[in-house]
Parts: sequence; structure tokens; C-alpha cells
Amino acid sequence: MERTLIIGLGRAGLGLHWAVLRRLRAAGNHPDLFDPAPVLTLDPLAPTAAARAEELRPVSSVAHARTLLDPERTVVHLCTPPVARLGLLRELTAAGFRRIIVEKPLSVERRAVHDILELARTERLRLAVVAPWLASSLTARLARLVEEGELGELRSIDVRQSKPRMSRTLADGGHPTAFDVEPPHSLGVCLRLAGDAVLAGAELADMHIGDTVVPGMGRAELVLRHQQAISRIVSDLTAPVRERRVQLGFTDGRAVAHYPGAEDDHYAQLRFSRTGGPETWEVFPDDALAAYFVDTYRALGDGSALEPQLRLASRVVELLADAKEASRQPGPRDVLPPAGHPGRRVSHAG
Ligand SMILES: NC(=O)c1ccc[n+]([C@@H]2O[C@H](COP(=O)([O-])OP(=O)(O)OC[C@H]3O[C@@H](n4cnc5c(N)ncnc54)[C@H](O)[C@@H]3O)[C@@H](O)[C@H]2O)c1
Repeated sequence: MERTLIIGLGRAGLGLHWAVLRRLRAAGNHPDLFDPAPVLTLDPLAPTAAARAEELRPVSSVAHARTLLDPERTVVHLCTPPVARLGLLRELTAAGFRRIIVEKPLSVERRAVHDILELARTERLRLAVVAPWLASSLTARLARLVEEGELGELRSIDVRQSKPRMSRTLADGGHPTAFDVEPPHSLGVCLRLAGDAVLAGAELADMHIGDTVVPGMGRAELVLRHQQAISRIVSDLTAPVRERRVQLGFTDGRAVAHYPGAEDDHYAQLRFSRTGGPETWEVFPDDALAAYFVDTYRALGDGSALEPQLRLASRVVELLADAKEASRQPGPRDVLPPAGHPGRRVSHAG
């Protein structure tokens, strides 16, 4: 049974991790995994947010958390932006916390991934990188379609991950490019379904809002070459609608899958058919983040190997870094953000 410390109370820490943990704790299906004692929270920039929920107890520092928790019986959720990871991991390690779930992407640059993996190795950290799409029942279903071969061999994966993300992009600079927001989820799925890959192409466009330009935060596209298949991921953060769609092309058919698009409905959909044949349509529950937490708390507790998923997570960062390098081009001159948009550097046309 594990206590929990959540660091970073933003959209991910409070809106996703705590929301899902609260649901899992209330359901009571895993009394062996989740200690009902209050969850500790640490976020110096959001001191009042945690006070709202009665099962949360804010702490002022990692050292403060250490006085209240036994690291051997605690899982830490590190939900800060990727640019604020390594320092906290060092602090947690120094305080004795070793079982840590880190939000994706593990980092936004190769060097920091290397440092994180090195720290994990030398300090024997039990590190898990959040990968709900890999714990998703839709991904498992797609993997079965590929393995069982009823539609032939997999040749292409087409991913569309779109959503309007204007206000959050203006308000915070935690993600350097559109490659760092949505593609980390789907890239792992592509590697899972079609094996390792090399980058075959990448493009990145700015976000335009009136005369405001946010460099690199519009549309990201990357193409991967696997041994026997090509993947194409397109993520548009200026799209008017939300979509998380994956289309698989096989030698004898195709499949179109939709991951749940929002936290208020955890159902996935899958349609597939052999070429010229009737279509099968499946709709099923897919509460991926909850499944991920249950699997991971169990794995952190029972000593299961976490290295394979850590390797996959770092491969995702490497390929995203390749994509960023390949798409880099001289952008408009950066200027300081206007008042009201304190978090990010933007530039203005004209
Ligand atoms: N927003 C989402 O829907 C979503 C979904 C999945 C994953 N993620 C990932 O989660 C991570 C965080 O994203 P977010 O959207 O929650 O960001 P956010 O900006 O909403 O929240 C980050 C929080 O971390 C806090 N923080 C920053 N530095 C800190 C420090 N040193 N100590 C303690 N707290 C600190 C900030 O005060 C802020 O409250 C990112 O890596 C993101 O990719 C986000």
C-alpha cells in the first residue's frame, strides 16, 4: 500500500493525476495499492489550489514531505513541465525518494534525458514515465490486430492529434514546440506497433493568433520509417476540433481507431475491415490513465522491470529531438511576451 506525493499542481498534476487517483481511491478496488491517507502535494506557485480538496495536504518542500512520508512506501508523481524535472529528481533522490512516476515527455532534449537516465542508473531510481496510450485498451486491441494478422501485414500508421490549445500556449512556456505536447503519446504507440524507427521527415509551423505568433507551437508533423511500415504523425494545436485518430493500413485491410478525446468519456472506438469486406465496429471502455496508474503502482511495489518502458520513453525523446533538428529553420525575431502572457516568448508580426 503506497502513500502519494504529487509535485506540480497544474493541469496534469491536479486535473489528471489527482482526478484519476481520487476516482481509484474512492472506488476501493485496489486497497492493496493506494493508501487512503491524504495525498501530499508540492507546488510553491499554486499554494492554495490543493487546499480545496480535503484529501490533499500541501507541503512546502521535498524535505518537508520527507518528514511526513516513508520513501519506501511512497510513489511520487512528478507533474512539473519538462523543463523543470532534473533538479527535482536530484532533490527527491537526495531525500531518499526512489519510486517516481514522471510526466511525459521525459525531457525535451537529449542531454537532459541522458542526465536523467544516468541519475536513475547510479541512484537505482524506480522511474516510470507516464504513457497512458501504452496502457490503453485501444492500443492493446490494435497490437492484437497487428499480431494476429487477420488484415495482413502492417504497412502504415497515420496519426491525427489535434485540439485547440491557444490560451494555454500563450499562458505557459513549458513546452518548447508542438512536438512536445501530443506526439509523445502516439510516437510510443507507433514504436510499439511497428517496432523501432528512424526519422524520415519533420515539419513544424508557428501558432498564429491575430498578429501574435508563437514560434513552433502550431502544427507538427513527423514521418518515421520502421522496418516494414511508415508512420506519419500530424498534431495541430490550432485546430478548431479535438481529434485523436489512428489509421492503420495493412496489406489486406485497414483499421480506424479513435482514442477517448476528453476526460468526461472514457470510450474508444475501432472500425476495421478486410479490403472489400464488411466493417467491424467496436466501442469499448478505455480508461487509460487509471489503468496506467494501477499497473505502475503494482510494478513499483513488486519490483517488476521498468527498463523496457524507460528505453521506449527515451527513444521517443530521441526521435522527437531528431524531428526538432530536422524542422529547425530561422524563425521570426523573438521579443518579450506582452503583458498578460507572462510565461512564453512570442513575436508580433508587422
Ligand atoms: N495538460 C495536459 O493535459 C497534460 C496531459 C498529459 C501530460 N501532461 C504533461 O504534464 C507536464 C505538466 O504539464 P501541465 O499541463 O500540468 O503544466 P502546468 O503548467 O499546467 O502545470 C505545471 C505546474 O508545475 C508547477 N511547478 C513548476 N515548477 C515547479 C517546481 N520546481 N516545484 C513544484 N512545482 C512546480 C507549476 O507551478 C504548475 O502549477 C508536462 O510535461 C505535460 O506534457 C500534460
